[in-house]
Amino acid sequence: MEKKNIDWGNLGFGYVQTDKRYVSNYKDGAWDEGTLTSDATVVISECAGVLQYAQTVFEGLKAYTTEDGHIVTFRPDLNAARLKSSAERLEMPVFPEDRFIDAVVQTVAANEAYVPPYGSGATLYIRPYMFGSNPVIGVKPADEYQFRVFTTPVGPYFKGGVKPLTIRVSDFDRAAPNGTGHIKAGLNYAMSLHAIVSAHNEGYDENLYLDPATRTKVEETGGANFLFVTKDGKVVTPKSNSILPSITRRSLVYVAKKYLGLEVEEREVYLSELKDMAECGLCGTAAVISPVGKIVDHGKEICFPSGMTEMGPITKKLYDTLTGIQMGRIEAPEGWIKVIK
Ligand code: PLP
Ligand code: COI
Repeated sequence: MEKKNIDWGNLGFGYVQTDKRYVSNYKDGAWDEGTLTSDATVVISECAGVLQYAQTVFEGLKAYTTEDGHIVTFRPDLNAARLKSSAERLEMPVFPEDRFIDAVVQTVAANEAYVPPYGSGATLYIRPYMFGSNPVIGVKPADEYQFRVFTTPVGPYFKGGVKPLTIRVSDFDRAAPNGTGHIKAGLNYAMSLHAIVSAHNEGYDENLYLDPATRTKVEETGGANFLFVTKDGKVVTPKSNSILPSITRRSLVYVAKKYLGLEVEEREVYLSELKDMAECGLCGTAAVISPVGKIVDHGKEICFPSGMTEMGPITKKLYDTLTGIQMGRIEAPEGWIKVIK
């Protein structure tokens, strides 16, 4: 299979149109059989539920070329389950979990020429999503939906690759208590756009969102969960009902305990504790683990001892082990790797 002529090593995190995508429509209470199509456009009513009231949820996962030349994906069953809980929260029909995995497999296999080669530093990002497609004008759920999966080859999410990030404590809130912070709904990202543009304008890479109720606890960023390492080598990660249950974070907690023998605490993390942490990273499918060198809280700088040039040593071990599992260099726990080809 001949790969596309793409400069894999210089890809950013952007959209490159690939050959095929998966589409299934929901009408009269049932999903159709679904199909792959070459048509990259979506045609819907001007009054579609997604356009009026943002009824849309999505997922993000990646396909990797392993050291021995297979194409694999990482824990797609957890993305299927999370899309189910996202859909339920927005009163959308569930796309069956086994069909979700099948759609991902079909779409990646059909775009094999775009799966970046092993060692290129790039991966194939997979974006499953669904939205209300029929006209809705009173505030209520749509009756018809479309589920789609497309793929795009990507490089690092943050410009500069592994250079530690500088983030700021945001004055904007991300997710209300008992709101939608724990699901992957487009609306959570729409409301973060003003905050991210203003962070970038002020020279920061991302926002650290606090819990809106007390503004004392660390939640997450706009697109990743936090991991901290204490000075005595413990991994600490915020626990909250209003953050997205990151599959990367859950995997890293397992890797830290079972592969690296580290102690892990999943608990509420106070902003006031951060000055005592040794390392900080952002984890997610897109972010993988991106090191944070500095957090700025209204002019007050919290500089992690790991510095502004490299990943901290424990963050690096977590990164190497996780990516080693994903790329087939390290044996994966049972069920983590879905072989596509
Ligand atoms: N938090 C938010 C808000 C996200 O958008 C993402 C990305 O999916 C994550 C965390 C990381 O989740 P995962 O590791 O499942 O990609
Ligand atoms: C992902 O990591 O898959 C996400 O959806 C995060 C997004 C900010 C790109």
